[in-house]
Amino acid sequence: MNIQAVDYDGLIPNNVGLGTDPRVKHALEKWHPGYIDWWNDMGPDGFQESLVYLRTAISVDPKGWAKFDYVRMPEYRWGVLLAPQHTDRKIGFGRHKGEPVWQEIPGEYRAMLRRLVVIQGDTEPASVEQQRYLGKTAPSLYDMRNLFQVNVEEGRHLWAMVYLLQKYFGADGREEAEALLQRRSGDADTPRMLGAFNEQTPDWLSFFMFTFFTDRDGKMQLEALAQSGFDPLSRTCRFMLTEEAHHMFVGETGVTRVIQATCEAMQKAGIKDPYEIDKIRKLGVIDLPTVQKKANLHFSLTLDLFGNEISTNAANAFHAGLKGRYREDRLKDDHQLENDTYPVLRLVDGQIKAEDAPALSALNMRLRDDYVVDCNAGVGRWNKVIESFGIPFQIKLPHVAFHRHIGEFSKVLTDVNGNLLSDSDWSRTRGDYLPSDGDKDFIESLMQPRSEPGQFASWISPPKVGIDNKSGDFEYVKIA
Ligand SMILES: [Fe+2]
Ligand SMILES: [Fe+2]
Repeated sequence: MNIQAVDYDGLIPNNVGLGTDPRVKHALEKWHPGYIDWWNDMGPDGFQESLVYLRTAISVDPKGWAKFDYVRMPEYRWGVLLAPQHTDRKIGFGRHKGEPVWQEIPGEYRAMLRRLVVIQGDTEPASVEQQRYLGKTAPSLYDMRNLFQVNVEEGRHLWAMVYLLQKYFGADGREEAEALLQRRSGDADTPRMLGAFNEQTPDWLSFFMFTFFTDRDGKMQLEALAQSGFDPLSRTCRFMLTEEAHHMFVGETGVTRVIQATCEAMQKAGIKDPYEIDKIRKLGVIDLPTVQKKANLHFSLTLDLFGNEISTNAANAFHAGLKGRYREDRLKDDHQLENDTYPVLRLVDGQIKAEDAPALSALNMRLRDDYVVDCNAGVGRWNKVIESFGIPFQIKLPHVAFHRHIGEFSKVLTDVNGNLLSDSDWSRTRGDYLPSDGDKDFIESLMQPRSEPGQFASWISPPKVGIDNKSGDFEYVKIA
């Protein structure tokens, strides 16, 4: 069999030879009904019978892996797909640098690796849970389809992690795989593992910000895990990254289209001042200062996902060859970092200062820095749209100390420029930086569904091109 082709004959599509691996095949088939129950309970509410124009992977070849067709989501062919194995791949960093990659887990790294897989795995179903009611307020069938595509692919990412657990971690892995179906986003007793994945995604601007900011954290983590010396993890993550690219496309273009609609409406009404908020809102679009507040919220929540700036866990995972840096293979240094330092932002005597720390301990900070650079590239493209209308406004990412709950800055309150604030100043100005109740009510008032092909809500402009090159009035979802 062609190594990149996917076997669709059995219950679980795969390119990992499940047909000749009865133990793992059986374990996954046992896990399957619980997964479908979870999907029916926690997946898109009200649309399980609808026919959705979705892409499904038919190969793992980067060119042309997808096939598009109408599918009812519970019948989506979730599967186990790994990118092709590279012959003679060597571990690229840490103390085992230069040794052949592992096809089985070295005993001493089992616990550390399990933790990495479980934490990544837990985010996947969490986002599906967070987004479960959004179908009902979709601004178009095009957007609804994109939401559902993201949702089924997050479901597949869960399969990807569960395959690793079932194949390589024995009884512990089976337990973890079950627990991934038990936790629930935002649940008081059994929440998901990471904070941002217990927040709500109450409206579509939140959804676009989430896919722009939080799925991008996913990309950074997957890029770092794709470097892993544990080859099956690397191959899994490499294929997941091809899917993740679409999630970020949905986020970036979603916000771009929101901005486009706002700027067009302002231009038509002859409004030049972006702070004429009442007038702008009467046009049925979202004013740019509110877009900025949403960006502040989602950016700051996502930064918490990178963990503490100084982290022994991160150092250990790198040293062991389990988790590299962002695109480690393109970096030019010794890939061991034992004698290097890295500048880390810290609070020193009430001031935020960069201090050199051992590079191995500072890997979370470094990944976060790479993340901020990646975010800024997208924000720059949003600002080009605003600029093209001659509106004096720029979206800016807030300072990394702003509105934090984890790490060095969780102890302080700052404004968006990183200036320390007293409790009372924070309470007084909070609504200038983060969405207020009034902002939330306004956005919610706009969330009226549009379900005729080719229709779009007032607050978002149509996309430049359709999915799979379909025309503007294509019926992306046949609502049942
Ligand atoms: Fe994912
Ligand atoms: Fe994603």
